[in-house]
Formats: sequence, C-alpha cells, structure tokens
Amino acid sequence: MKTDILLGLQWGDEGKGKIVDVLSPRYDIIARFQGGANAGHTLIFNKQKFVLHLLPSGIFRKNTLNVIGEGVVLDPVTLIEEIKKTEQITGNISEKLLIAEKTNLIIPSHRILDKAYEYKSGKNKIGSTGKGIGPAYTDKISRNAIRIGDINMPDFKEKYNTLKNKHLKILKSINFDFDISEDEKKWFEAAEELKRFKTINGSYFFNKNMKEGKKILAEGAQGTLLDINAGTYPFVTSSSVTSAGVCTGLGIAPDKTGEIYGIFKAYTTRVGNGPFPTELFDDDGEKLQKAGHEYGATTGRKRRCGWLDIPALKYAVQINGVTSLIMTKADVLSEFDTFKVASHYIINGKKTDIFPYSLQNVKPAYKTFKSWNKNIKTAKTKNDLPEEFLQFVNYIEKEVNIPIKIISVGADRKNTLIL
Ligand code: GDP
Ligand code: IMO
Ligand code: MG
Repeated sequence: MKTDILLGLQWGDEGKGKIVDVLSPRYDIIARFQGGANAGHTLIFNKQKFVLHLLPSGIFRKNTLNVIGEGVVLDPVTLIEEIKKTEQITGNISEKLLIAEKTNLIIPSHRILDKAYEYKSGKNKIGSTGKGIGPAYTDKISRNAIRIGDINMPDFKEKYNTLKNKHLKILKSINFDFDISEDEKKWFEAAEELKRFKTINGSYFFNKNMKEGKKILAEGAQGTLLDINAGTYPFVTSSSVTSAGVCTGLGIAPDKTGEIYGIFKAYTTRVGNGPFPTELFDDDGEKLQKAGHEYGATTGRKRRCGWLDIPALKYAVQINGVTSLIMTKADVLSEFDTFKVASHYIINGKKTDIFPYSLQNVKPAYKTFKSWNKNIKTAKTKNDLPEEFLQFVNYIEKEVNIPIKIISVGADRKNTLIL
C-alpha cells in the first residue's frame, strides 16, 4: 500500500480536520507530517466540538493509530494538555499515539522569540500564531535544535541549556523583556510525561506498515499558499506544507505516495497578514465571515474572507499533484442570491491564470454564479444537490481538471457526501 495525503490548497482552515476524521475509519494510521500547534483542526460529532492542534485527527477513532511524524515541531506542554483533554473522552491513548524520534522540540524561549520578532516587525509582522513555529524551524535548519529522541540522553539538559542560552542572547540584544521560569518548569514536567508514549523510527515504521498492507493517511496542516517555498513569502509558515513535505516529514520515498486529496473551501479565507487577491471588504465579505463562522481555531482571530480564486487553486493543485478534490463549506454560499469566483487575474492589463511572483498588481476577473437559495446541509447524495450547485461543481472540475470526490455541506461529521 502507498501513503495517501490530504492537504490544504488555500491559506489553511479548509476543513482538513473534519474530513480526516470522516475518512479515518478507512485508514489504519493517520500521521501529521509538518507544522505544529499553529494548526487548529475542528472535529464535530455527537453534538460536541473538538479542536486539535498537534494530535492527528484520527485520534477519536477506536482502531486508528495516530503518529506525529518527524517533520512536525512539537511543544510538549501543548501536546500534554491536548492529550489530557482528549483522554477525558477516549480514555487512555498511550497505545494509540506514536511520536517519531526525530521530531524537533519547541522550547519556551522559541515562543518568546516568535513574539519578540513579531513585536519588532511592527506593521510588517507576519501575524504568526505565536506558537514558536518559525524560531523552532530556524533552529532545525541551522542545526541547533533538540529532538524528542534526545529526551532520554544523558546530555539532554545540557543541550536544552545551550539552545536556551542562544535564544537569551538574541532576546537581550533586542531588549525584549520576558520571564520563562514558570513555563520552563511546566515544559520539563510535560517532557517527562511524554515518556509514556512510544517513539518510533519514522522511516522504518511507515515503510514496514506499507509493506504489510496497512493504509496510511498523511494529514496536512496549514495550506499550500502558506508553504515556505510555494506560498506568499514572507507571509507564510516555516514548514513544507505540500505533498513533497510528506516525504521528508514522514521518511518515505516519493514513489510511496498514493492518492493526493486537495481540500478547498468554496470561497477563500486567510488569517494573519499577507496578500489576498479576492479579499472582500464589503457586505459580502462580512456575510461570508458571519455565515461561515470564520474565526481562527487556534487564535480566535477573525478570518479575512473573499471569493474562490481559481488561479490560486490551479497553482496549488499543480504543486501538490492533487488527484482528487474535496470541497467544503459550500453550504455557506446558500445564504447568497449570487456569488462570484475569480476565473482569472488581470495583471498590467493582461489576462492570465498564472499565480505570479508578486500579487501586488493583481486584479481578479470574476464570473458570477446564481446561488441555489436552499438548505443543502441534509443532502446525502449528488441527487439531493440543486442544479445550480452541480453547475458550480462542474465549472470547478472543468477549470482545474480534477474531479471533486468529497463535498462537505456542514461542520458535523454527518454533513459529508462521498461521491
Ligand atoms: P482545518 O484547520 O483545515 O482543519 O479547518 P478549521 O477547523 O480551522 O476550520 C474549518 C471550520 O469550518 C471549522 O469551524 C469547521 O467546524 C467548519 N467546517 C468544516 N467543514 C464545513 C462545512 O462543510 N460547512 C460548514 N458550514 N462548516 C464547516
Ligand atoms: P490549519 O492547520 C490558518 C498562519 C498564521 C500566519 C502565518 C504564520 O488550522 O489550517 P506561524 O504561527 O506558522 O508562524 O504563522 O500562518 N497560519 C495558519 N492560518 N490555518 C493554519 O493552520 C495556520 N497555521 C499558521 O495566521 O499568518
Ligand atoms: Mg484550522
């Protein structure tokens, strides 16, 4: 068996958590391959809502194993808090959660650095979630990081102190005031508690399971337009969000990846700063924000809203090699009489569907669609969907040249059509 992938095609929050939860009974293993607690993945079932930051979204399923892969940056404090909350529902998850031993750790001073850099950037700040993601990946790439596999080593504390002192020097040089003594205490306690979870050699683990015919789904965090390489740099996160990131993030070869599910909202949102060509500043934008309950699942910030952007979607599909599309939140468009989709961009008077280096001079060219003015949340099959809805689906499939195989029409597990 090969490893399937599900990842975001926009600026995150496409509904990845919901759909991974829906698909997880079909898989033996769900694995996160990048990012960290900057992610907020919402799952709703049995009238209850759960937001996961580090735990893979298969954690509520009885027979699914969940793995934090080595491409993730892990904050022990956040993870332990999340595990405790989850265990109140599921019971002990020690047998259901594995952590790759090469996973890098976020330490308290990473979070402080994240805040300090943002503060110093003033109005040019990224709008980071403040979870220490950027500084942690910086230390990984500059070969200074500590990993979960170091926890049991005799020189663990020494390695920790070396890293912390490096951070303290930077913080001192920029005159940033802070106190981490309490956070440090909690951090060491959490690191100790994590020892009840088995660590694995990611590459051997995933390859062995694939050989044995086990079904694996890699769960993306963030979205392609936030990817460190492909995204709207510098307004991006610091990890490899794309399908290429699955290989390095889990330790598997490119020929071992299978179905690549690309997920997108029927409109677009973005939380944090950076360019957003189809962003709306009018009543329609407000309506999308309200009807879609568009608030960040990690930070609670209002999400910026705009119409669906076909050039951006095509670009994301190309970079990831998407084989199947998943559309979410189309039910939100039921609130509109008409809605728009950017079919192209106009750049310096020229029509193009290329996502350019700079989005500064981009003007979206819109196509208007008649909405269906009908509640579609109870739809169970394609036959239950209005004609106008199907025309919208056909249009996207034709433009992007990939079939839409799953349609989500509500936040609950139940509001999902697998076509
Ligand atoms: P993720 O980060 O990609 O997992 O997405 P988030 O959980 O951050 O944001 C998606 C939001 O939309 C959450 O509040 C979900 O409960 C909600 N949601 C997911 N799918 C649908 C859908 O099809 N319709 C509606 N109305 N809400 C949805
Ligand atoms: P999920 O997995 C939406 C955004 C932040 C900020 C930028 C950098 O829930 O889709 P970081 O904390 O990584 O340094 O922030 O990326 N961002 C997200 N936006 N969904 C996410 O994750 C995000 N994770 C990071 O708002 O603009
Ligand atoms: Mg989210």
